[in-house]
Amino acid sequence: MRTFADGARNLVLTGMPGCGKTTAGRAVAQALGRRFIDMDEAVEKLAGMPVWEIFRRDGEERFRALERDVAAEAGKETRVVIATGGGTVLNEANRAALRRGGRVYYLERAVDRLERAGRPLSTGLAALEAMYRERLPLYLAFADATVTVAEDAAVTAERIAREYIGFNTGQT
Ligand code: S3P
Repeated sequence: MRTFADGARNLVLTGMPGCGKTTAGRAVAQALGRRFIDMDEAVEKLAGMPVWEIFRRDGEERFRALERDVAAEAGKETRVVIATGGGTVLNEANRAALRRGGRVYYLERAVDRLERAGRPLSTGLAALEAMYRERLPLYLAFADATVTVAEDAAVTAERIAREYIGFNTGQT
């Protein structure tokens, strides 16, 4: 039987688009010596085009279908760090797949500090505020812990790593 006591659990990052999941994820993966999976990047690889182009050419539905495939695959991994897309949380099957073998962190960052470049749904502050109101309960329900994003990604990564290591130590 698979046991998670030795830290086999994946470390999964969720949160609003542009909150810094990819940057912090890469840093925490490096700090822990884990492989890093960026779900948006995996979707881009599958589609052979950038996220914004998938939205433009084939629409959000197509993007969400690819995202579901990527979530299902990522959920089968062990010992990896996974940066989800900001909307991955919207789908129940995605949440279940990623929670199965993972510890999920909600990265909290003020809505007016979110990066917007290259994100088709981040059209302005009002849109992001509406999205935040809709999604916050989902992020919180999906996550095992919340980490506040720092200006320095290394600090954010350290906060995540400390919680993760503390959790695993408590499990053994
Ligand atoms: C989305 C967030 C994006 C990307 C896509 C949709 C969303 O990922 O998956 O544009 O619905 O919030 P990031 O959270 O990495 O920006």
